[in-house]
Amino acid sequence: MRLLPGTDIIEIERVHRLIEGGEDAFLARWFTDAERAYCSGKAHPAAHYAARLAAKEAVAKAVRWQWTGPVPWRDIEVLHDEGGAPLVRLTGQVADWAATQSVTVVEISLSHSRQHATAVAIATQG
Ligand SMILES: CC(C)(COP(=O)(O)OP(=O)(O)OC[C@H]1O[C@@H](n2cnc3c(N)ncnc32)[C@H](O)[C@@H]1OP(=O)(O)O)[C@@H](O)C(=O)NCCC(=O)NCCS
Repeated sequence: MRLLPGTDIIEIERVHRLIEGGEDAFLARWFTDAERAYCSGKAHPAAHYAARLAAKEAVAKAVRWQWTGPVPWRDIEVLHDEGGAPLVRLTGQVADWAATQSVTVVEISLSHSRQHATAVAIATQG
């Protein structure tokens, strides 16, 4: 068994500007309906969207996604358990890719401050 790490950090202000500039195109490309419902219901949506962007990038790194084309970002979905801890669900091409890499489980952790959001992902291989 091997543990594969991935991490990313995002400026929340940048995400705020993307949301303001073209909300539907940006949000529709990156986020599932469940993610949008969660983030949009928060007092500071951009912080939660930024954390999910960081999580998706971190997961892509952890599963060693081959960056030969655009990542289907909605195939990496951030959900929550009953206690509020984030969990990731892989679907579509990313799930298929993870299977070819013998990745069985991916765990994530998120954090945000006023300026930045960050995420760590750990993929279990084998
Ligand atoms: C959950 C907790 C660790 C978050 O820490 P924080 O410093 O406030 O906030 P951070 O920015 O570092 O982390 C926020 C992220 O933690 C994650 N998180 C939430 N609950 C979690 C839990 N039980 N376990 C692990 N991660 C959790 C979420 O992903 C959240 O981001 P999201 O809402 O965008 O998904 C913290 O609130 C805590 O210790 N809670 C337990 C005690 C409690 O319930 N307190 C209530 C306050 S009155």
